Amino acid sequence: MSYSYQIRSLEQYQAVYQQSVQDPEGFWEGIAKTFQWHKKWDKVLDWDFTGPDIKWFQGAKLNITENCLDRHLAERANQPAIIWEPNDPEDHYRVLTYKELHFKVCQFANVLKNNGVKKGDRICIYMPMVPELAIAVLACARLGAIHSVVFGGFSAQSIADRIQDAQCSLVITADGGYRGNKEIPLKNVIDDALVRCPSVTRVIVLTRTRMAVSMIKGRDVWWEDEIKKIETQGNPDCPAEVMDAEDTLFILYTSGSTGKPKGVVHTCAGYMVFTNYTFVNTFQYQRGDLHFCTADIGWITGHSYIVYGPLSAGATTVMFEGIPTWPDAGRFWDVVDKFKISILYTAPTAIRSLMGFGLDYVKGKDLGSLRILGTVGEPINEEAWHWYHEHIGKGRCPVVDTWWQTETGGILISNLAGVTPQKPAHATLPLPGVQPILVDEKGEEIHGNSVSGNLCIRFPWPSIIRTTYGDHERCRVNYFATYPGLYFTGDGALRDQDGNYRITGRVDDVLNVSGHRIGTAEIENAINMHTGVVESAVVGYPHDIKGQGIYAYVIFSSSHVDENLSRRDIIQTVARIIGPIAKPDKIQFVSGLPKTRSGKIMRRILRKIAEGETQNLGDTSTLLDPSVVEEIKNGKV
Ligand code: PRX
Repeated sequence: MSYSYQIRSLEQYQAVYQQSVQDPEGFWEGIAKTFQWHKKWDKVLDWDFTGPDIKWFQGAKLNITENCLDRHLAERANQPAIIWEPNDPEDHYRVLTYKELHFKVCQFANVLKNNGVKKGDRICIYMPMVPELAIAVLACARLGAIHSVVFGGFSAQSIADRIQDAQCSLVITADGGYRGNKEIPLKNVIDDALVRCPSVTRVIVLTRTRMAVSMIKGRDVWWEDEIKKIETQGNPDCPAEVMDAEDTLFILYTSGSTGKPKGVVHTCAGYMVFTNYTFVNTFQYQRGDLHFCTADIGWITGHSYIVYGPLSAGATTVMFEGIPTWPDAGRFWDVVDKFKISILYTAPTAIRSLMGFGLDYVKGKDLGSLRILGTVGEPINEEAWHWYHEHIGKGRCPVVDTWWQTETGGILISNLAGVTPQKPAHATLPLPGVQPILVDEKGEEIHGNSVSGNLCIRFPWPSIIRTTYGDHERCRVNYFATYPGLYFTGDGALRDQDGNYRITGRVDDVLNVSGHRIGTAEIENAINMHTGVVESAVVGYPHDIKGQGIYAYVIFSSSHVDENLSRRDIIQTVARIIGPIAKPDKIQFVSGLPKTRSGKIMRRILRKIAEGETQNLGDTSTLLDPSVVEEIKNGKV
């Protein structure tokens, strides 16, 4: 397997980019041809952004796991596919070769089959970062079952919402998981969630921590027991289900500006082609590289650049169970040193946090194997970029700042490592096949350079969101209705004098806290669940490490004896309803919120106060009660 489509120079990038705009279908067809298909497509692309109705490689038949596993067996059966580093550095790491991974995926796919799973079923996966998580994901794909991975930090309530929305029939989980010095009781959380999920008839539980769990007769089975059954049946092979190009591969829930997370749907062929193409080009993957993406598979970054992108390219992907600061803040650098990592892909929030611990944790670690560094998930500030470049990359590794979203499936705007120019804090240029534009409030295109506006994409790429599960209208309204004829990202961006993009952040009511996306409405709903809360308004404010912190203004009914206790109770409520990632950093009790006469909260004012800018609050004359602003200003926490 060679990467005929890997771009090696700036000139080539420019030529390929031109070609991808002039003849997108010819361009993507050329790349798609290098994959393994049961049947090739009748038509490369059919699209309409009003529906939206987008179809790539129609008529083609494939299974993504044959491209991630089977097709590598002839040449690299004994090459590591997954290297896994456990939470505790004293524990043994694990290596799964392509042959072993193939075997285990087939074996577990047979377990799923034995438990009644068939094509099209929705399977919820709630697991720690162990190889079995990747195996579970791939086993679903092997059978054509639709996986919906839920990040291990979400609460029972959030899981239940997601399971109900997708009507999942089976859950794959573990007894518990390790994160730093904590043990997370995953199965207990699932038990709480399932009280409200009658669609789930089977739970498969992997042994990880051996913490006490309740196993319900007739519903819960152990992963290991089910594997034994397959072993006694003798035949571990599991032929891959032949899928249509546009069959759903997975659902992944993400937050928007409304209270309820939406299930982003990705389909088989386009997602496969795009994640592979962007992996090979952005990171300039070379045979023998060890690729370490520090994300969790519960997020899109893990789906695309731990599992599907690297494996479809026949790369070695490194999975890490723990956290960057345990046993100490040198853990990432230990992992790099231990395995001789070549590509490190992480989030600005991790870089900022590790930067804060100082260089002592970097000293003495051999980082000479690193060739390429990457960041994702939120804007990276220049200081963090330079620290990463100088102290981790020792000034010799290109840094790719990759901009993309759950909805885009893969990287849309990024420099290509060492091939196209990098610029600190800039995602820079679109990948071939990606056509970004900036528009003003009215949707008029903003031409030229040194401009800013709302970021839209005017032409489909193969892994664009197809729908939001069970509610196509929501997909249309959210992404395709704001500016008719365009996909709207929800992000604002600048375009510099050379045409490089710099993403400035969300322009809607979505926060990005430590690279995690959370809607303000979702947090408000959770806060409002607390008995004493009358109303609340949540905004983001700049936070040194998290990028954005969560600031909540709360109207509280009962005369609280102890404000700090009430704060703790509210925080606990949010952790219960959504999960610890959504806990407010600051809570200010107020007697009223700045509302217009029509009842709309003027968040602009609240944002400014949270940012500490209490001087230029703009026009407050349209407020129902302007005096409330003074009170809020004076009570800032
Ligand atoms: O605001 C952008 C920010 O993260 C949002 C997407 O979040 P999510 O769907 O969770 O996916 C994160 C991982 C791809 C975007 O709308 N974002 C992502 N990457 C960058 C970024 N902001 C600035 N620079 C980036 N490189």
